[in-house]
Amino acid sequence: MPGTCVIGLQWGDEAKGKLVDILTGEHDVVVRYAGGANAGHTVVSGGQTWKLSLIPSGILRDGVQCVVTGGVVLDPASAIREIEMLESRGVTVNGKLQLSDRAHVVFPWHIVEDRLLDGSLSGGGAIGTTGRGIGPCYRDKVGRSLAIRLGDLYRDDLRSRIEHVAAFKNRLLASWPRPGEAAAGPLDPVAIHEQYRAYAERLRPFVADTTAYLLSAVEVGHKVLFEGAQGALLDVDHGTFPYVTSSNSSGLGVAAGSGVPGRWVDRVIGVVKAYSTRVGGGPLPTEQDNAIGMHLRERGHEYGTVTMRPRRCGWFDAVAARYTSRLSGVDELAVMLLDVLGGLDELAICSAYEIDGRRTTQFPSQITDLEKAVPVYETLPGWEEDLSVVRRHADLPAAARDYLTAIGDLLARPVVIVSVGPDREQTILCDRSTSRRLPWRPSQPSPAAGG
Ligand code: GDP
Ligand code: IMO
Ligand code: MG
Repeated sequence: MPGTCVIGLQWGDEAKGKLVDILTGEHDVVVRYAGGANAGHTVVSGGQTWKLSLIPSGILRDGVQCVVTGGVVLDPASAIREIEMLESRGVTVNGKLQLSDRAHVVFPWHIVEDRLLDGSLSGGGAIGTTGRGIGPCYRDKVGRSLAIRLGDLYRDDLRSRIEHVAAFKNRLLASWPRPGEAAAGPLDPVAIHEQYRAYAERLRPFVADTTAYLLSAVEVGHKVLFEGAQGALLDVDHGTFPYVTSSNSSGLGVAAGSGVPGRWVDRVIGVVKAYSTRVGGGPLPTEQDNAIGMHLRERGHEYGTVTMRPRRCGWFDAVAARYTSRLSGVDELAVMLLDVLGGLDELAICSAYEIDGRRTTQFPSQITDLEKAVPVYETLPGWEEDLSVVRRHADLPAAARDYLTAIGDLLARPVVIVSVGPDREQTILCDRSTSRRLPWRPSQPSPAAGG
């Protein structure tokens, strides 16, 4: 069977890009199937750092097809910027990249709406989006009447479609000022049409029916790697709603987003950081707004790849990651950024929550319960050694090995890859036997919503 998935099990930025780059060598095709330019995936190799948003991290290797499917919302300006950045640095993109004609296109009105609407959650608060127009573009996709797909950019009626949508959006935006702000100025459909025609011409060589391509690829036995974006806790249906993104960013989104049925996937790798981070709003039960959080942020350089915002940091949350590994059908784990934990005397892993005085290992479905969750911690000894030079599991300090075993046990999955630094080389491939696997431990039901 030809398919492997890399799925972030936390709130994004688990170092999926690094892992995809490593696994690309064993695959023929790398696929981005959800999200858009809200993603920021970093690959470091040979002293060079690459930051990719829309284009699969596989593009850095030769002989691999990179596919952006219809499940992605595509900002053509971002795609072109990325293609030009890659070409200017000597990476071949022509002949290696396909963009789905089914992908919905991000327009300027989506970016304006994103800015205007964030902070207007029913019940108050802000999601703290990346401001890339992701939510509004997905909303128009599902709403259909105002949606424009990549394939539509090549149709003769593009101008009238843009005029139709812009007229509607201009009425909406004019009536929608943020408190203390003037209403957004009107969008000029003629200028937008010209700009998007030019984008379309630049992207023409890459546009394809990627569903047809991928179905044939799996049928002839090509090995396909699905590169998750965001993390499963940001999944619109199963994450920490409403503090989520607007796509199915858990493993559940692979088939719908790519057009490749799940029966073609035989290996799901769940990626976790050795601790927790989150950018934007919403609960982070294990957050350490203290010296420990500072240690993690500074050693892990925890600042957003896309927005540069400082990431909120905390201990590893095994309740959340066990939930998302089950949700995503994870077979194996990759534990990233383990080196960042070095220098802390004692480490903590959250193994249960207390909600209204009741202990549970089940991740709550209601945000109001998650907001009340008090983590129950297991503590483990830390280590002083610099892990960034370690290349074999056996050479890790005993405390680091025990920490990995604890994660594997709590998630009931083997840890097969450990990352100890940003570079490709700073990676440890583990023998499955080094990871103990305990029998499944059923979780306690959490308190019912409202009860
Ligand atoms: P992604 O969105 O999941 O691809 O992750 P990001 O690229 O947004 O964030 C991960 C960050 O951690 C990047 O800056 C990587 O270069 C860096 N990184 C990846 N693996 C390691 C690691 O093992 N140790 C350290 N210290 N940094 C890492
Ligand atoms: P990668 O692929 C971390 C977060 C935003 C915000 C919420 C909704 O790099 O892991 P959106 O712009 O999608 O409407 O924002 O989701 N978010 C991410 N956080 N990594 C990401 O991607 C993210 N993509 C979106 O910060 O809280
Ligand atoms: Mg990222």
